[in-house]
Amino acid sequence: MRNMAPVKDLLGRRLRDLRVSVTDRCNFRCQYCMPLAVFGPGFRFLPRPELLTFEEIAEVALAATDLGVRKVRLTGGEPLLRRDLPVLVGMLARIPGLEDLALTTNGFLLARQASELARAGLKRVTVSLDSIDPQVFRLMNGVGLPIEPVLEGIDAAARAGLGPVKLNAVVRRGLNDDGILDLADFARRGGHVLRLIEYMDVGESHGWRMEEVVPSAEVLRVLSQRWPLEPVDQGPTQAVARTYSYRDGGGEVGVISSVTVPFCSTCGRLRLTADGHLHTCLFSASGHDLKSVIRAGATREELGREMGGLWSRRVDRYSELRSQRQDLPGRRPKPEMSYLGG
Ligand code: GTP
Ligand code: 5AD
Ligand code: SF4
Ligand code: SF4
Repeated sequence: MRNMAPVKDLLGRRLRDLRVSVTDRCNFRCQYCMPLAVFGPGFRFLPRPELLTFEEIAEVALAATDLGVRKVRLTGGEPLLRRDLPVLVGMLARIPGLEDLALTTNGFLLARQASELARAGLKRVTVSLDSIDPQVFRLMNGVGLPIEPVLEGIDAAARAGLGPVKLNAVVRRGLNDDGILDLADFARRGGHVLRLIEYMDVGESHGWRMEEVVPSAEVLRVLSQRWPLEPVDQGPTQAVARTYSYRDGGGEVGVISSVTVPFCSTCGRLRLTADGHLHTCLFSASGHDLKSVIRAGATREELGREMGGLWSRRVDRYSELRSQRQDLPGRRPKPEMSYLGG
């Protein structure tokens, strides 16, 4: 690692976490993320030459470690659709100073890749699982895909040493909110860590409405009536999830409350899109074109300066400002989560 001071933004937040989207494509069409009406057969995904190569991604990650990044998470779209992903994992795993390397996936293609990913150096996986009910699962993934391959993927990941597997469920009122206890029961029995996420207004395509958000306080009430909970002391942390332990020893469960309890004040996440744009917030309307800088032949130091400069000018705290922001006229469209990375 080179000798560079960890970079802070204008609100004093350190850069710790790089989230890399490796593709904007997905085999699912979750209504809250890539609704079929928008992401139909005519949708134009990024053309191949626009995607950063694995070498380019690894260079960015290397430069990011000079600025204080200790964790990389691979996302998409669906990252397992990117060919030869274990090769990228291997390249990232060899970067000195990176302490954590994780993957967020819908799990559908995970069973056949889990052990190879683990061998390549992946440390952990998070699988999106909105419901354990096969019918609700089919409905929510938008293309009627069955749940079984995902459950096999979760098992395979746990067996490959990528656990405890985190399970992410976006809770939407009237769709899957009556399945929270079943999901929690499934996670407890399998030794997985369920995290229940408030439906966010990220992107423009899903017609988000506040009425569909189930506040985490309500989720916690439902859970604790069945299994008493105790908050886990997380200390000073940049984690997005608030964690609770089951008093009966059944493991842990988390809530991610970006709507009702925003966590911008500790946000140290920088996002790299598949086409090499940096976003300092999930909700930032425009990205910073790093690809041109890379393809102009920038050195590691130059990439570091570019990223560090961007971070040091950062003031993002969208979730905290959300309520005011909603009604602002002339608001610019927000990018989609499938492009930005979840
Ligand atoms: P760990 O590395 O296991 O701690 O993962 P994580 O807690 O960072 O969680 P993950 O990457 O699985 O993110 C879970 C969900 O939290 C995402 O899918 C988003 O819904 C939400 N989320 C993650 N990061 C942000 C963020 O920076 N801002 C907002 N508003 N939501 C976020
Ligand atoms: N609200 C909350 N989380 C979302 N995700 C995608 N869209 C949304 C949204 N509108 C997250 C889910 C999923 C990950 C890939 O992205 O957690 O698991
Ligand atoms: Fe695909 Fe994940 Fe978005 Fe669903 S939430 S459409 S699985 S990227
Ligand atoms: Fe970070 Fe932006 Fe999310 Fe706030 S809204 S936690 S600043 S990504």
